[in-house]
Amino acid sequence: MKICETIREMREYRKGAQGRVALVPTMGYLHEGHLSLVRQARQENDVVVVSIFVNPTQFGPNEDFARYPRDMERDLNLLRAENVDAVFAPDAEEMYGDGFSTYVEVTGLSEVFEGAVRPGHFRGVATVVLKLFNIVQPHCAYFGQKDAQQAAVLKRMVRDLNVDVTIKTCPTIREADGLAASSRNIYLNAEERAAATLLHQGLQAGRHLWQAGEQDPDVITARIKEVLQHPLITLDYVAVVSPDSFTPVTRVEANHLLIIAAKVGTTRLIDNMSLV
Ligand code: PAJ
Repeated sequence: MKICETIREMREYRKGAQGRVALVPTMGYLHEGHLSLVRQARQENDVVVVSIFVNPTQFGPNEDFARYPRDMERDLNLLRAENVDAVFAPDAEEMYGDGFSTYVEVTGLSEVFEGAVRPGHFRGVATVVLKLFNIVQPHCAYFGQKDAQQAAVLKRMVRDLNVDVTIKTCPTIREADGLAASSRNIYLNAEERAAATLLHQGLQAGRHLWQAGEQDPDVITARIKEVLQHPLITLDYVAVVSPDSFTPVTRVEANHLLIIAAKVGTTRLIDNMSLV
């Protein structure tokens, strides 16, 4: 497995790559969710590149950039075991040095829900992902449905800027009790970890209600809020949205998306479920 720490090395590697090239962008501290993207990429392509970069521009000033979990050795071993061909792991200076001042802004979609709670977040995500696309030049790139709004922002960016990369979205991988796998789950203590399963239970309760014929988004979100009543949980938002635009719907139908963000203790978690 080739490990590239500089853009120059990555470009050199790319020049010699034959066939279909896939990119799986990550911030490291890999878990089964990340590995599911890597496995799908491995199945569908000739060359799999994984990037590991904790991207400073997508973290707000009061967010967890400094303490975001990192373990490069462990990550590299996990990726070797998946037969990954190359890892791109630059440092922040390599990506943003030398008077960096150009950003990609996907308007509208980046300003609601996650974007409203985390101003500048999607600007940082779109910017780094476009940079990664330009450096690695993949045919396709894999993202998780777990971060549904991120995937929608990136699909919009690729369409709007005519970027020649196919975005693939892979299903959310969950722990046995339903909690979506996340690098941030490590922040949860035992009590918080137990409470965190309510996010998934809330989504399931909402979906059951819809499956039973309920179409009023207010009734569905009220039910989810009931399930999430817990002393350790502070809800940021719960909504039913259209999956491409993230606009709230007035009548709930198939393929609409239930979305949740909540703090469990001090850890902020997001989750979503498609209505099928
Ligand atoms: P990160 O949080 O490391 O996630 C990397 C990829 O793994 C994302 O596409 C995310 O949606 C996916 N993922 C995370 N948890 C998942 C789960 N439980 N099931 C399936 N997929 C999951 O998302 C980022 O990094 C960054 O914003 C990035 C796109 C790398 C840009 O910096």
